[in-house]
Order: sequence, then structure tokens, then C-alpha cells
Amino acid sequence: MSPVDLTPALTSPRALAATRERIALVTEAARRAGSYLAGAAHRPVAPGPEAVAALDVFRRPLQDGRIDPREVLAELDAFGSPATVAQAQGRFFGFVNGGVDNAAAAAAVLAGQWDQNPSLPVGSPVASVLDEVAAGWVVDLLGLPRTATATFTPGATLANLTGILVARDALLARAGWDVHERGLFGAPPVRVIAGEEAHVSILKAARLAGLGVGRIETVPTDERGAARADALPTDIDALTLVILQAGNVNTGASDPFGAIIPRVHDAGGWVHVDGAFGLWAAASPELRHQVAGVELADSWGTDAHKWLNVPYDSGVAIVRERADLERATAMQAAYVASEDARPLMQLGLQMSQRARGIETWAMLAANGRDGVADLIERTCGHARTFAGILAGAGVELFAPVALNQVLVAFGREPGAPGDAAITDAVIGAAQREGTMWAGASTWKGRRAMRISVSDQATTRDDVEVSAAALLGAWERVRG
Ligand SMILES: Cc1ncc(COP(=O)(O)O)c(C=O)c1O
Repeated sequence: MSPVDLTPALTSPRALAATRERIALVTEAARRAGSYLAGAAHRPVAPGPEAVAALDVFRRPLQDGRIDPREVLAELDAFGSPATVAQAQGRFFGFVNGGVDNAAAAAAVLAGQWDQNPSLPVGSPVASVLDEVAAGWVVDLLGLPRTATATFTPGATLANLTGILVARDALLARAGWDVHERGLFGAPPVRVIAGEEAHVSILKAARLAGLGVGRIETVPTDERGAARADALPTDIDALTLVILQAGNVNTGASDPFGAIIPRVHDAGGWVHVDGAFGLWAAASPELRHQVAGVELADSWGTDAHKWLNVPYDSGVAIVRERADLERATAMQAAYVASEDARPLMQLGLQMSQRARGIETWAMLAANGRDGVADLIERTCGHARTFAGILAGAGVELFAPVALNQVLVAFGREPGAPGDAAITDAVIGAAQREGTMWAGASTWKGRRAMRISVSDQATTRDDVEVSAAALLGAWERVRG
């Protein structure tokens, strides 16, 4: 490390000492992070029961006095690091957890020390510029309308909530109802229609938006979990919000946007798309046909922390017309008045916020269009390899692999239909064995194991070793 010149002229001895202590601590934290990463490849993916039990050390009453921060860091590393799920070695296939791209990981370390609040450009010129650039790149990469405005959120749940609030307010404004002034009391009812495979975060967002989960009308889906365009109600009107999906969380299948969105628009309705991971198929020349027509929607929710491999937490809400976004999210107060082009606190649900755009900027700057397409296509290729190995060994595949999700069930013997008890037993055995980690799901009422290949670190070797570990677990369960 180059020597740090802490010129004392403007700094009190006390502040100088605090800065020196911070530098030493941050350097020590980086050293420990390096050791953690070096060790992660050589340990079970999920922590063992001893490491989890040892976390009890943290469950103590808050003491009165101070503890040296070096001791706090050492304790965090000693007991915390072994109890992590080892995300960073390419064999964690649970949920749709992405790994972390190197440039984004490094940017997070530096930006963590910057500690910027980008809610207004004056709070952080650099975070504001990088947020603006990253937001524009995301819109461009996803092939969405150039006029659309993207704003970073803590995740896709909040991105979907943002889109749904924007839609609600816009539909009601067009009907002459001002939600801000009058709330929803006595408002004309907004009709909500969603595919029956809509993600739970959509139900939560509808609930939080006061639209009521029980009022959502569902559109039946096909065998892959995509909404059937022919089953869309024919009496959609100008107060209808239709929520579609890019990337079913189990199968990766996307709704037929081109067949549905124009019909909703003809009736004056609004379409929001939940594309938490699947929207990224649009960044791949090979795969974008699967989400053809998605650009016709009015709002979109996606994640950077899943398939884009940006650190937690990072989602993106995108709205076609900026005025619609601002109607729902802008707030007024003398001390936050801003003439700036992109005051983030007027473009989303948060006021103070993490400077999330920095990490997405770093990921995109380092990888470029080709790198992102490669990440998407490579992980989909791994998912197909995984499915091929398992199906070849007689494991039941519940759906063709559309993107990066593999949905399987294990039977009583190779070639037999998937069995719930055996599938759960294989999942448990594989998780305990520790070579890889994948979790359970249900599909059309049947128990399944879901394997999500979302980490840039995953190699073909990881897939082969993990598939072998799963088949070994299946053999042990049958034996
Ligand atoms: C389709 C879909 N929508 C929304 C979400 C919620 O995303 P987040 O966990 O970032 O809030 C997920 C998470 O897996 C998802 O798969």
C-alpha cells in the first residue's frame, strides 16, 4: 500500500487518529475478506451445524462499555465467516441468488468507504452521475424504450411495488381521481389481472398498494407456467392493470408479451412486467426472442443482484414515462427542493438510500454488452448441461430448460416418476453433504428440486461435480 499522507494542517490530532484507525481497520477487513474468499472454495457450500451453533456467541446482552473495533472485526470473522453460505464458489444453486462480479465486488468495497447518500446530486455528484449512467445502460441493454426512466431499488419486490404504485396512480389519474389527495377511499376500483404463476412478491406489492390480493383475477398458464394469451379476459378496460412475468421462478418461461400487451393497451389499460431475473434474457442475442414484445409494457421490475451478479441489495424499477413515476414518488419539502435533472429521492420510494448504481455501473463497465450476454448465455448453457446429466440418469425433468432454472424430481428408481418424499430426502442429503446447494419448490402441486444457475463463477466442472453429488445423494437415499 502506498503511504497515506494525512496532512495535519486542517485536521485535529484526534480526527487524524480516528482516520488512521479507520484505514488500519478497513485494510484488515480487506485482508480478512481475501482469506475468506480463498477458503470459500474448499468448504461445504452450506455451513455445518457446529458453525451455526457457534453463532450463539453473538446472542448476548449489549454490554455497557466499548470493545476495540479490531476485536469486533476478529469476532465477526471468526464466528461469522464459517456460518455463511458460500455463495462465491459457483456451486450454490438455491433460490435465484446471483454471485458477485469481480468489478462490482471491488466497487462495493471502495463505495462502502465513500458512504455516499445519492438522494440528491448535491449529496454525491459521483454517485448521481454513475447512477444516471448505469440506469441508462440498463434500459439500453434490456432493449426498453429510450424514454424510459430506471431507478435503483433494494430488490425486485420493491421494484414491482414501485411499478404497481405508479400504475395505480396513473390509471386513477386518467380517470380523474387524485390518489394523493383522496387516497383510495371511494376511488373507482382498479382491476388487477395476473398470470396464475405470478410471483409472491407481486401479491405482496398488490396488497401494499391497497389493491387487495383477493381481488386479483388470475389468467391460467400453460404447462411451462406462461400465461395463456387466449385466456385473457376480453372485457379489459381503462382501469385495468395487467401484471405479466419475464422468467417464471420455477421454469424460466416468460409470458407471451406480444400477444397480450397490445390488447391491454387497446383497452387503455396498463401492463407491468415482473422480470426479476428473466428480463435479462433481453440482453442476450441468443435468448431475447423468449421475451419478445416485453418492451411494449408500461413498467418493469428487475434485479441486479440476481442474474447480473451485482452485490445485495440491488433491484431496478423502470417506467416508460418519467411523469408517471414522479406522480407516484415525488415529495415536496423546502430543504430538499432540487432543480437537478435526476434527484433520486423524487424518482423512487426511498429518500436516503445506498448508492446502488455504482456497483451496477462497475459490472456493466467491466463486462460490456458482450460480457453480459456471455454471462446470461453461459449460465443457461450450464443449466441445460445440468438438466441433461440428471435426465440422462433417469431423474424426472418437470419442464424444458428455458433459461437458467432446472426443475427436477427424484423417483423411487431411475426413470420412475418423481416422488415427493424421495425428492425431499435427496435435497436434504445433498445439502448436508455440502458439494452443492439447491432447494425445494412445488410445481403444479408436485414436489420438486429447483436448481438456479445464476452465478458468474459457475463452471462446467462445478455443474458436473454438483450433478454427480446429487446423483450420489439419490443413490444413498434409495439404498
Ligand atoms: C420472478 C420473481 N419476482 C420477484 C422476485 C423478488 O425479488 P427480490 O428478492 O429481489 O425482492 C423474485 C425472487 O426470486 C422472482 O424470482
